[in-house]
Formats: sequence, C-alpha cells, structure tokens
Amino acid sequence: MHDFPFAWNGLDIDLYSTEEQVMWRGLIVLIGLVISQLALAESTEIVELKEEYERPKGIPFPADNPYSEAKLKLGKTLYFDPRLSESGTQSCATCHNPSFSWGDGMGLGVGHQHQQLGRKSPTILNLAWDEIYMWDGRKATLEEQALGPMESAAEMNLDLKQLPTMLGAIPGYVELFKQAFPEQTDPISTKNVAKAIATFERTVVSGEAPFDRWIKGDENALSEDEKVGFIVFNTKGNCASCHSGWTFSDSSFHDIGLPSEDIGRGKFLPKMEKMQFAFKTVGLRNIDLRAPYMHDGSLVTLEDVINHYNSGFVKRPSLSDEIEPLNLTKTEKKQLVAFLKTLTSQDEPVSMPVLPR
Ligand code: HEC
Ligand code: HEC
Repeated sequence: MHDFPFAWNGLDIDLYSTEEQVMWRGLIVLIGLVISQLALAESTEIVELKEEYERPKGIPFPADNPYSEAKLKLGKTLYFDPRLSESGTQSCATCHNPSFSWGDGMGLGVGHQHQQLGRKSPTILNLAWDEIYMWDGRKATLEEQALGPMESAAEMNLDLKQLPTMLGAIPGYVELFKQAFPEQTDPISTKNVAKAIATFERTVVSGEAPFDRWIKGDENALSEDEKVGFIVFNTKGNCASCHSGWTFSDSSFHDIGLPSEDIGRGKFLPKMEKMQFAFKTVGLRNIDLRAPYMHDGSLVTLEDVINHYNSGFVKRPSLSDEIEPLNLTKTEKKQLVAFLKTLTSQDEPVSMPVLPR
C-alpha cells in the first residue's frame, strides 16, 4: 500500500502511513480527476460553441448574378440616387442609411410625402447570408426585393416602366450600365437595376468586432462579464436558438410575443398557427447602433429587449415554443447587454458616390 505510484500536491505519498489515509488519498485523487475532466469537457464545449460563430471567408454571390467591380459601382450609385423616386428626394439610403447601421434610426419608416410606414426600416447589413427577405418573408431574393420600394406608392412611388428611359437619358448611367453588363447590347433595364443594387447590398458586411477577435483566440478582446454574457446568450437566455451563426439569425420566422396587431408572416401562411404574429429573426451584428428595436420599433433600448424576453412577452397560441420566462438575474441581464455590445464593429466611413449626369 505504501508504494502508491504518484504524489499529490507535491507531497510524497510515503508521508502517509495508515491504510485508511491512503484510501482517503486515493478518493481525493479520483475526485480531483473527475473535476478536472469536467472542467476540460466544459472548455471543449466553449471551443465548439465558438466555432459556430466564426466569420465566413468570402461573400456568397448567386450563380445568376455573379460579382463584378463594375456592377458593384453601378449598384452603389443607384442605391444612393434619389432620382430613383418620384419626388426626387428618396433613395434606398434614405431609409437604409450607413450612418444608422443601414437602417434609419426611427421606430417606423417614413416614405413618400412623409407618410409613416407600418414597419421599421430594417438594416441591410449581412443580407448576402440571408435566405428570405422582408419582416414577413414576402421576397425570395435581393434581386426580387430591389424593385419593390421604387414601385411602392408608400415608398419611392416610381413608375418602373419609366425607369429605363429616365436612366438612359443620363450619359453617365449609360456608361456605367455598359461596363457592368458588357455582354448585353441594351443593358439599361429594370432587371439589371435590380441585379446591380443586389450586388452592392451583398457587399454591405459588418466588419470585425471585439467578439470576432475573441472567437479568433484573443482572450483580452472581451471582459469576463462579456464572456459570461455570451454563455448566457447560448444557455439560460436561449437567444441562440433563433439568433444563430455569425450573423446571429436563423433566417426564419417566430412570434416572440410583441403585443403588435400586425400578423407578419401569418398573412401568407394563414393556416399555420405558429406563423401568426411571426417576423423574421433579424441579425444582431452592430445591434447597439440600431435602436429602437423590432419590426414595430416598440423597444427602445437593449435593456428593454432583454426585459421583454425575460418576462414581458404576450402569451398566445402562436408564441414560439422557444420563448419562456427566463428568470435572469440583474447581473445576467447586464452581462447579456454587455455581450451584445461586443458585436459592434468599427467600420470605415462609407463614401457617397458622385451621381452621374
Ligand atoms: C421609405 C423608406 C424606404 C425606402 C426608400 C427603401 N426601403 Fe427598404 N425597407 C423599408 C422598410 C420599412 C422595410 C421593411 C418592410 C416590411 O418588411 O414590410 C424595408 C425592407 C428592405 C429589405 C429587406 C431586409 C430584410 O432583412 O429582409 C431590403 C433588402 C431593402 N429594404 C432594400 C431596399 C432598397 C434596395 C431600396 C432602394 C431601391 C429600399 N430598400 C428603399 C423602408 C425603405
Ligand atoms: C424564438 C426565436 C427567438 C428567440 C429565442 C430570441 N429571439 Fe430575438 N428576435 C427574434 C425575432 C423573430 C425578432 C424580430 C421580431 C420582431 O421584430 O417582430 C428578434 C429581434 C431581436 C432584437 C431586435 C433586432 C432589431 O434589429 O430590431 C434583438 C436585440 C434580439 N432579438 C435579441 C435577442 C436576445 C438577447 C435573445 C435572448 C434573450 C433573443 N433575442 C431571443 C427571434 C428570437
């Protein structure tokens, strides 16, 4: 019994004499081993969790609308051009403004002749990775989406049939279209307007944030509270069940219990109970720059958002099964907010294009 094979806490095992002591010693070693294995298991869990949030290497472009620099230039110019609206005052950037993290900083959008829209202008950040568009999912691609607001009487109120003629009368645009679609003899079309704008939108990507530096291995990039906030986000807070992946969106629809009358996705899927009052999960990158929150702009701060998920939601048959009282402590709420703020990147200011004449 005395030739126990290893030392404990630097003490030689031989210091212990009785059989009983050696037995206790063995037990302590065993418990120590179990605890260290558990700690190890937890840290591999965090490593695996972190892998789910790694940034992608490049931007995905669809095969039927591949990237080109010329198309991007044309798309960006069109995006910032207010001549694409009937009043000559509204561009896409009016409501999806880089200064407000590509939203408009307001609770509800404001459209043609200052009419208030029914929903908040969402950000266009990181949409290249989304699979369906609009709060209610009524558009399948960015190309399909792009012409909608120009045509909408409530938004840019433009007669799309006039658009090619209008653009064709601007020599600078004739040149930009030629460069963007060199294989076509008559490239100025609404279809190509949509393709160019969609190409530009796909390049609107949030830059590297402190969170990304931590994911890549820089332990000093986040504070302890921010790291715990990430764990709460993935465990007790249950946020990651919908806000998943590096953009923090599952590109799906859920009723999260906002008291708004708007049935969202339910309009298109009237028979599906869980789609009533369901809206698209929005990504959370740069979220600190985009208050107020939700499709109705009803939650003013990130603290309000956390309180909503903790216990403030409306219970109704359509409420997502993933939404339940969270019983978060005051500290956990603070840690969650601290974590959300680590998703903000310090992006280069966006330069406005000189509009062609
Ligand atoms: C008057 C404000 C306004 C203008 C101008 C406007 N939008 Fe929007 N945009 C909105 C609102 C509001 C929504 C959400 C509407 C909804 O989901 O019902 C939206 C939704 C979107 C979405 C969907 C985002 C997502 O996460 O699914 C995209 C993409 C978009 N707009 C791009 C554009 C482009 C491109 C233009 C210019 C051609 C444009 N918008 C002009 C207000 C505007
Ligand atoms: C059941 C799925 C689900 C869960 C769980 C969930 N979310 Fe959401 N989240 C959504 C959807 C859907 C929206 C958009 C809802 C709307 O506007 O009607 C949203 C919106 C948000 C917004 C506002 C984004 C914006 O641009 O307006 C924030 C912030 C947010 N969630 C954070 C969280 C946090 C933090 C948690 C965990 C405590 C969480 N979410 C849990 C689905 C979910």
